[in-house]
Amino acid sequence: MVFEYIKGLPEKERQDFIWDKIIYANTIKPAETLEKLDKYKPLVTYDNIEELKKIKKHAPHAGLALRIRVPNTGSMVELSSKFGAHPGEAVDLIIEAFNMGLVVEGLSFHVGSQCTNFENYMQALQLSANIIKEVETRVGRRIKILDIGGGFPVRYDHKVKAFKVLAKKLNSEINRLFPPDMEILAEPGRFIVATACYSVAKVIGKAVRDGKMCYYINDGVYHTYSGQVFDHCNYPVWAFKEGPRQISAVFGPTCDAFDTITLAAELPELEIDDLVYSENIGAYSHASSTCFNGFPPATVIHINRER
Ligand SMILES: Cc1ncc(COP(=O)(O)O)c(C=O)c1O
Repeated sequence: MVFEYIKGLPEKERQDFIWDKIIYANTIKPAETLEKLDKYKPLVTYDNIEELKKIKKHAPHAGLALRIRVPNTGSMVELSSKFGAHPGEAVDLIIEAFNMGLVVEGLSFHVGSQCTNFENYMQALQLSANIIKEVETRVGRRIKILDIGGGFPVRYDHKVKAFKVLAKKLNSEINRLFPPDMEILAEPGRFIVATACYSVAKVIGKAVRDGKMCYYINDGVYHTYSGQVFDHCNYPVWAFKEGPRQISAVFGPTCDAFDTITLAAELPELEIDDLVYSENIGAYSHASSTCFNGFPPATVIHINRER
């Protein structure tokens, strides 16, 4: 539907479209952002009636993709309790959007981040196929885009199966369930950026506590290592130095004990100013402690109280 429509537009207007390039996939969007985006006719996701009303009011030119809730079993980061329409209400939410004069272009799902249980994808594809079929039967509208989300697992260790194993399963199930002209999108996050970064930090203090060597470094769980808390991901700490290793604790620099990176790093004896590093720390680390998802931190306003 939309792609044929875009192709038929004059060049200048065609350039204004971003439906075919970008999807705004957070199902909860600030009204001001929708207003700014509307002129670009974005593709946006939704999973509830209030969001639908907001989109109708602030971005009536947007194309829509309904996000459904799918099993996130065993994924490192569970997303399904926060996002996604229950599959049982999906068709009604799609019909509601059409009745409001909006266009539902697609269906989307997310199986949870770092999904090593590939069965989640299989179930999500089957649920999607059922919904798409029911929409066609009930209202004769075709859903043309299927967004299979993120979740593609990074090989943090060799227990994680190679991506090609998942890709093979996905391809064969997609071919079985959907027509060849179904537009398939994906939103890989972690899979692309996790292995892109190392973090390097400096030892700023050391002590022996209860017989264990403890190092204090100038980065911690409130900064680059935030993924240890929010993402349930472990980032082993390594030294650049060689030498006999002992089990050591590594703490972040802040003044609370929660800021503990690990109690079991295998490190040689380090001195103050030595450097340590962690691998595969490109996802949900530095970005999560800045303007994550484009939402800025709270503004600090100083108030002078007049007496
Ligand atoms: C809507 C959406 N798309 C894509 C991603 C990226 O997921 P992942 O990092 O698991 O690939 C996320 C992560 O939370 C997300 O919420």
